[in-house]
Amino acid sequence: MESLKSAIENAQSRYVAANPRSQAADEDASRSLPGGNTRTVLFYEPFPLTMVAGDGAELMDLDGHRYIDCVGEYSAALFGHSDAVIKAAIHEALECGVTMGAQTRYERELAGLLCERYPALEQVRFCNSGTEANLMALSTARALTGRDKLLVFNDAYHGGVIKFLGGRCALNVPFDFVLADYNDIDGTAGVIDQVGDELAAVVVEPILGAGGNIQGNRQFLGMLRQKTEEIGALLIFDEVKTARLGPAGVQGMIGIKPDLTTLGKFIGGGLPTGAFGGSAELMGRFNPKQKGALAHAGTFNNNVCSMAAGCAAMSNIYTPQRATEFFDWSEAFRLSLNEMFAAKAVPMYANGLSSMIAIHFSSKPTKKPADISAGCRSLRPLLHMELLLDGLLVCSRGDLFLSLPMEDKHLDQARTSLEKFADRYKPLIEQVLAA
Ligand SMILES: Cc1ncc(COP(=O)(O)O)c(C=O)c1O
Repeated sequence: MESLKSAIENAQSRYVAANPRSQAADEDASRSLPGGNTRTVLFYEPFPLTMVAGDGAELMDLDGHRYIDCVGEYSAALFGHSDAVIKAAIHEALECGVTMGAQTRYERELAGLLCERYPALEQVRFCNSGTEANLMALSTARALTGRDKLLVFNDAYHGGVIKFLGGRCALNVPFDFVLADYNDIDGTAGVIDQVGDELAAVVVEPILGAGGNIQGNRQFLGMLRQKTEEIGALLIFDEVKTARLGPAGVQGMIGIKPDLTTLGKFIGGGLPTGAFGGSAELMGRFNPKQKGALAHAGTFNNNVCSMAAGCAAMSNIYTPQRATEFFDWSEAFRLSLNEMFAAKAVPMYANGLSSMIAIHFSSKPTKKPADISAGCRSLRPLLHMELLLDGLLVCSRGDLFLSLPMEDKHLDQARTSLEKFADRYKPLIEQVLAA
């Protein structure tokens, strides 16, 4: 049987032959960008595709191939690439002037829409990204509690300088992070007890996204709520990705209210933004009308294009009803993949929830990061290459994010691509996982 190494090389050589223009663009980009790249997650071997246009749920590359876009900008492209309502909102905002250096109606309206939507939000502040939202939430927790330690989870991702994928990262901000294992109820409770009244906050993704789209156990998240209350630390839900799930994010789904919630990705309708928020009492500490208020800066916090696109997206497109329908439609697709894999007895599993999916090489759901085997990780480049060659754009780590402009035909095609992969490589997958 062909080895995994030669299967990957074979797929890569077909990819190189099919993408000469992307290869040339990558070489050109490498002159002024390190490795041709300005965002590490977008890099993959032998070179990444260069995209030239987007239309609905599809993308076109420099060599003229058309793809179903299941990268979905890592969840931010919920509205696809050409939504007319969002485009009109951006144009309207542009007509009225950008960078006005003043309060505008847009941030007021978007803040109202978010507070109506998410149970733990009474007031919010905007910033420029999910990373910034988390930095602000963590700094706020430190300032308000007067404590330094921050509990985070192994394999969590809260932004480019707050990431714990495979351990601590060299570029992380020098906060006093304490690590525990995701979904480990007893172990984490023990760490919280140990840190005690030095703990400022626990920050958690209700679904561990980059770490494998692993659903947070309800009891685990409930324990975090209870323990943080007991010791006077803040609980922060990083819903940067998960806020798209259903009408009120995971917090609405499981009925747990964190003290602070961070948002980003889709809430700007596809344009850059982030937000953090919580109760009026807590967020009131930022009220500049109060003496001694915390000051929160950011030139582009309320940039009108993102705010206007976000308003249109949240009020006219992603209504609570649309969010519920999209959740159900996407979850039916995820479950259909698992039925297909099970019927073939191929060790593949669509982990995650609804429109946030990660393909794992395993026969059962992955419930904690340690369940992801080395074999599973080593098979990802093959899956990625073969799906690209079949016109299905997925993240190199095996994530698929569904988007609103997708139709049944897109999901049928995605299922067929995954089925072809499973049929072709089942013996190799079994061999790699058994090694
Ligand atoms: C859960 C989570 N938090 C925070 C971030 C950081 O957001 P941004 O890339 O907008 O800085 C991400 C980005 O992928 C994320 O997935």
